[in-house]
Amino acid sequence: MVVRSLAGMQPAMTIERSTPDAVTRAAEAVRQGRLVAFPTETVYGLGADATNPRAVATIFEVKKRPRFNPLIMHVLNGKEAARHAMWERDAAALTEAFWPGPLTLVLPRRGGSPIVDLATAGLPSVAMRSPAHPVARALIEKAGVPIAAPSANRSGHVSATTARHVAEDLGNAPATILDGGPCRLGIESTVVDLTAWWPEMLRPGAISQADVERVLGRKLAARTAGALPKAPGAMASHYAPRARLRLNAREMRPGEALLAFGSNGPAHDGLMLNLSPTGDLVEAAANLFSALRSLDATGVATIAVAPVPRGGLGEAINDRLARAAAPRPAEVRGIRPMAG
Ligand code: TXA
Ligand code: MG
Repeated sequence: MVVRSLAGMQPAMTIERSTPDAVTRAAEAVRQGRLVAFPTETVYGLGADATNPRAVATIFEVKKRPRFNPLIMHVLNGKEAARHAMWERDAAALTEAFWPGPLTLVLPRRGGSPIVDLATAGLPSVAMRSPAHPVARALIEKAGVPIAAPSANRSGHVSATTARHVAEDLGNAPATILDGGPCRLGIESTVVDLTAWWPEMLRPGAISQADVERVLGRKLAARTAGALPKAPGAMASHYAPRARLRLNAREMRPGEALLAFGSNGPAHDGLMLNLSPTGDLVEAAANLFSALRSLDATGVATIAVAPVPRGGLGEAINDRLARAAAPRPAEVRGIRPMAG
């Protein structure tokens, strides 16, 4: 069933019964960089190939998130997760007890993992989950890539637990919805952070805190202010370039590198990367983190950033640039932070 068409550009959102054939086609769509909404035992996810920056950027566009929140990577098992994340005793114990199932673990990212920076919002950590739902598992297996997926609802709305809810919320999104019936649990996965010295509960969810603590043999610390600090500059764990950023640059100053957007920015014949020569915000989002890293790696002292329009993904891009430009906590103490 076609729900609504998107100005004739891309296929509109379609609901398909999750037959083996439909799952095979959906997996092929994921490999080609398209979005697929799929059922899990908790809520529906809006999935894309986690190794494809453009596909991941499209998730943020469709969800209309005003900023790049880190996404959860969906994999088949602990062995696959350990290709992308550092694995240790707590992770082994928790996945042994609860995977496949509604537990998400935040772990240090492994160097060399093909998961793109945008999927983790530039964080040095990565959230991994192995869903139990057979349709989700078949999709991951057939796609052969980790699937980055937030809950398949518009930012700020409640999570969708039926294919119809997904269609109502994201009706004109360019994606297929695999209909696997209503989600069994209807509440998101529990998110536990194992990157700090003591395990922390980031989001209460379908697995109780007491059950997690029983397996770990100790109490979880609680993170009260939400999963991530909100104030610009307080994002200590976020990737921050070593170079300074000068935003909304309309002219160049000596010694600066340029992060350009479209064709109307300042003229520059020195070091320069363009987020999107055609002014495409999805392409710009897909390139944002790697472009910042590349320019930073040259050792340049200041990166001038051309104006990026607001609206759509422009909000999230500008939010991220503002954070990267804000003074960092270490700087406030007079220490220059390391890039990384
Ligand atoms: O049940 C679920 O977890 C569903 C299904 C689709 O798997 N997914 C889901 O995704 O709820 P989402 O994006 O709506 O929520 C992911 C949560 C957010 O609170 C996010 O901040 C946190 O996980 N998260 C993801 N990666 C993180 C990281 N590297 N560090 C800290 N928090 C992270
Ligand atoms: Mg959500």
